[in-house]
Amino acid sequence: TRVAVLYGGRSGEHEVSLRSAASVIRHLDRDRFEVIPVSIDKAGRWQRHDLRRITQTGDESLSIPAESPEVRLAQGTDGRAAVVGLDGAPARAEIDVVFPVLHGPLCEDGTLQGLLELTETAYVGSGVMASAVGMDKDVTKRLAGLAGIPIAPYRAFTRRAYERGDVFLDDIAAGLTLPVFVKPCNMGSSVGIQKVKDWAALPAALADAFQYDVKVLVEQGIDAREVEVAVLDGDPPFVSVASELNPQGHHDFYSYAAKYLDPEGATVDLPADIGPDQMERVRALALRAFEALECSGMARVDFFLDRKSGDFYLNEVNTLPGFTSISMYPQMMEASGIPYPELLTRLVDLALE
Ligand code: DAL
Ligand code: MG
Repeated sequence: TRVAVLYGGRSGEHEVSLRSAASVIRHLDRDRFEVIPVSIDKAGRWQRHDLRRITQTGDESLSIPAESPEVRLAQGTDGRAAVVGLDGAPARAEIDVVFPVLHGPLCEDGTLQGLLELTETAYVGSGVMASAVGMDKDVTKRLAGLAGIPIAPYRAFTRRAYERGDVFLDDIAAGLTLPVFVKPCNMGSSVGIQKVKDWAALPAALADAFQYDVKVLVEQGIDAREVEVAVLDGDPPFVSVASELNPQGHHDFYSYAAKYLDPEGATVDLPADIGPDQMERVRALALRAFEALECSGMARVDFFLDRKSGDFYLNEVNTLPGFTSISMYPQMMEASGIPYPELLTRLVDLALE
C-alpha cells in the first residue's frame, strides 16, 4: 500500500507538523506500507521527496529539501490518485492513500480534505465537515452544547463586528469573570492564545488574536486541570484512558511554549489521576463529542476539569492531533493497548475501508 505522508503546511503549526510527520514516518510499518513523503511549504508549494533525504537531518523534525521536484495531486486512473510533477516533470507516483500529518488552517480544517475528495483520494482522518467544525472552536462548542456536552461560558465575534462597534468591551466583560482566555477561533497548538488577568489588557489581546483569524473567542478561564482523551474510529469507536497535562514553572497554562519549546514546560499523568467515575465520565463525553461532530478516523478531545466542582467542560476537538514524539494522542493509545505502529496501520486501514 502506497501512503503519501503530507507534511508541513501553510499554517502557524507548520513546525509542529514537521515533528509529527517525522514520528509517523518512523513508526509506519514498512512491511506493509511504501511511504511517499510530500511536503507543503509555507507558500503552499507541494514537493515530493526521497525518504532518505528528508529524514537524514534528524528524526525529530523532517526537512523540506529545496531541490525536490514540485508536484500536485491529480485524479488518477482506477480510483487511484497520483502525485504528478509540475510542467511535465517526471515525478509521477500512484498513491493509495494520503495521511495528512498536518495541523491547523488549510490543513486540518476541511480545505485539504475537499481537495482529496475532488481527486477521489482516500485519506486518513475526518471528512470535510467534521474537519471544518473541529477547527472552529465556536462552532465546535455550539454543536457540543446541543449534544449536551458541558462547555464553559464564552463570547465569539468577528473582527468586522468588533471594528464596526457591534461588540463592546463592556458587553464581553459583563458575563465573564477574570481571568479569561482570548483565542483565535481557527488555530491549534495554542498559537495566538492569551490569558487575560486584567480587563485593561483585553484590547491588546484581541488585536493579537485577530492577527491569526477573523473570528476570536473570549472564554471564561476556569481553575481547572487539563484532561485529554484519544478516540480511534471503529464500530464502536475505541476510547483511550484519559491523560492529564500539568503546565510547569512559569507556564500558567498549556501554551505553545509549554507544549513545544520548553522541554520542562509540562508533565503528563497517564492515566490521569482521577477517580474511576470521573474517568468513565470523561471517556463518555469524548465519545459523545466525536459522534456529535461526526468525526472519522481519529480525534483527541480536550477537556477542562473544574477543580472546585469536579465538572468537565469541553475545550476542543482535534481532528488531526499532534503526532510528535511527545504528543498525547499516540501515547494515550499506547497506554490503552494499541502500540504506535498498530495505531497507524489501523488509521490507514480505516481510510481504505
Ligand atoms: N494542534 C496540535 C497539533 C494538537 O492538537 O496536538
Ligand atoms: Mg488543538
